[in-house]
Amino acid sequence: MSMKTGTSRLAVMNFLNEVSGDFPDAISLASGRPAEAFFDLQRWLDAIPLYQREFASRRGLSHADAGRLLAQYGRTNGIVNEVIAGQLAQDEGVRGRSEHVVISAGCQEALALCMLSLCEDSNDVVIARDPTYIGMTGVADLHGIEIVPLHSKEDDKLAAELAEVAEKLRREGKRARALYLIPEFDNPTGTVLSLDARMAMLDVCAEQRIVVLEDNPYGMFRYEGERMQTMYALDRAGCVIYLFTYSKTLCPAVRVGGALVPDTLFGDAAAARALVANLGERKSFLTVNTSQLNQALIGGMLLAQDGSLRELVAPQLAHYRRNRDLLLAALEKEFADQRDVVRWNRPEGGFFLTMDLPFAFGQAEVLRCAREQHVIPMPLSFFSLTGTCQDSIRLAFSNVEPSLINEGVARLGRFVRECQEVCDAAV
Ligand SMILES: Cc1ncc(COP(=O)(O)O)c(C=O)c1O
Repeated sequence: MSMKTGTSRLAVMNFLNEVSGDFPDAISLASGRPAEAFFDLQRWLDAIPLYQREFASRRGLSHADAGRLLAQYGRTNGIVNEVIAGQLAQDEGVRGRSEHVVISAGCQEALALCMLSLCEDSNDVVIARDPTYIGMTGVADLHGIEIVPLHSKEDDKLAAELAEVAEKLRREGKRARALYLIPEFDNPTGTVLSLDARMAMLDVCAEQRIVVLEDNPYGMFRYEGERMQTMYALDRAGCVIYLFTYSKTLCPAVRVGGALVPDTLFGDAAAARALVANLGERKSFLTVNTSQLNQALIGGMLLAQDGSLRELVAPQLAHYRRNRDLLLAALEKEFADQRDVVRWNRPEGGFFLTMDLPFAFGQAEVLRCAREQHVIPMPLSFFSLTGTCQDSIRLAFSNVEPSLINEGVARLGRFVRECQEVCDAAV
């Protein structure tokens, strides 16, 4: 049912980096990086003095002294918490207290801090969907935190499975402490968790006192359909910690993200404050504080944009939507005569889609695909908690040149046909 250690999972990222390094001319459909075309370094750097002015006026300092203070060590939980709380409310409908924002070095640090803080006891367990984001499983593996998978593929079965798993854990003397979810444009599957499933899972979490870690790096990238309320916004019981990041909206190098702790933890305001303090204590011995210069960059950009990133993200949204459409059209064309055995989903947003193939696609196949066809997809099994998803791959469309998408898919098509011929001949 569960997997305690995951050395092989930790090796996966290294493997993929090596493949990309060994075949630099291959078209990569593996990387979920944001598109560099939108990185506007000078504009962002110019935003730092903007925040510096605000910082100076709020603290009654000269501009120069404010600059010196920004270059210093700083408050552990961050300095741009208010502007960030404003942006989350405006852009994502996530309304929380700025005192409950813990700013971290990317969302990855916030995730690690929350998991370590919630799972202090060796019997404390994290629950996650299978497959799930490798950054979360990596934290668990590194720190010996047990992850228990939810297997249901259908949204409407998840809440019942969650309740069952929590109950089973209790019988084993363990405690389901946290539920990790990416409800919007999941990494790796690209799917959106339905509203009913969000509410049903929140009910189970409230009843069983399970804290939801709602990770939402892709929420701003919806290409079609109605925006759905976040679990944080739907939560009435005080069980959702919202994880945010500026890695996709601005850039990963800024390393600014964080956690927003709810007003109360299961109705207890003091417990929520204690959790914020605990996250800060841990952070102070992990990264001391998040670079104030990088926070000033984010703060300045948010001030320059009147507190919202919607306008800034609009051209990116158009670009990613176009890439998604190009990829979908190329897949339709390439696999037209194989629709009965090759299937993929149509994501309404985010950076990824997944494809089911009629044969296993693992490490050996990535290598062969890169060597023989010069295209690199990502095996979905790399994200699996239980060795499932052997026949599926994840295709990322965020960081691939639009002009290369057709060719990348044609190469993938050739590889798939070759593998299928080998399979057919063996039967
Ligand atoms: C689901 C998910 N969570 C977290 C992260 C990490 O974000 P950050 O760069 O803020 O650490 C990523 C990055 O790809 C991601 O896909």
